[in-house]
Amino acid sequence: MTPSAAALLRWYDRHHRDLPWRTPPGQGTRAPDPYRIWLSEVMLQQTTAAAVAPRFQRFLARFPSVEALAAAPEAAVMEEWAGLGYYARARNLHACARQLAASGGFPRDPAALRALPGIGAYTAAAVAAIAFGAPVVPVDGNVERIVARVFGVAEPLPGARSRLAALAQGFLGQAAARARPGDFAQALFDLGAGVCTSRRPACALCPWRAGGCAAEARGEQDSLPRRVAK
Ligand code: ADE
Repeated sequence: MTPSAAALLRWYDRHHRDLPWRTPPGQGTRAPDPYRIWLSEVMLQQTTAAAVAPRFQRFLARFPSVEALAAAPEAAVMEEWAGLGYYARARNLHACARQLAASGGFPRDPAALRALPGIGAYTAAAVAAIAFGAPVVPVDGNVERIVARVFGVAEPLPGARSRLAALAQGFLGQAAARARPGDFAQALFDLGAGVCTSRRPACALCPWRAGGCAAEARGEQDSLPRRVAK
């Protein structure tokens, strides 16, 4: 049983969340602005999409480009970040903007993105996939949960992490995922936020029900992913 990337993308086309940093699916001929994608991903690192949405708009109105952000005093950036928490994110954002402005913009390559302040493996992959269409699947806790369930991975976290990441990248073996890596990543985020939730997943609404999900087939969706007891 291989969960179909095409089935997930069809579901995303109908049920995607409208979020202010997104290019709606099907209108993706206009390349997304990497600045917007990067800013949204940094804000989303420790904050829910619902809380980020209004703050994202306000931040962009004040700092509309990498150059504007780079030119701003740090105090202005910190002031605009107030209330979002995890303030190292704002300091790194500003330091990163200065590096990007000095070097002429965003690198497209995930490894080069990863070398920038505040950009870890997850954020580098998300920006590369969503802004540049790079063939990578960003793996956060939501994606780990989905992958553990659909492939029925019984090995507990954190040990299972590299196996789950490899299974997630494996979706790129399907042409549908390779054709739309950014939408595929965002489809996984939306599935994790609204359907394949950690508690009481809504399997009846899932595009991978009835054949695409090992956990659902075995009734194990509530017990996966397993975790080593602390
Ligand atoms: N969480 C992290 N990145 C996201 C995105 N681009 N859309 C929705 N939720 C997210």
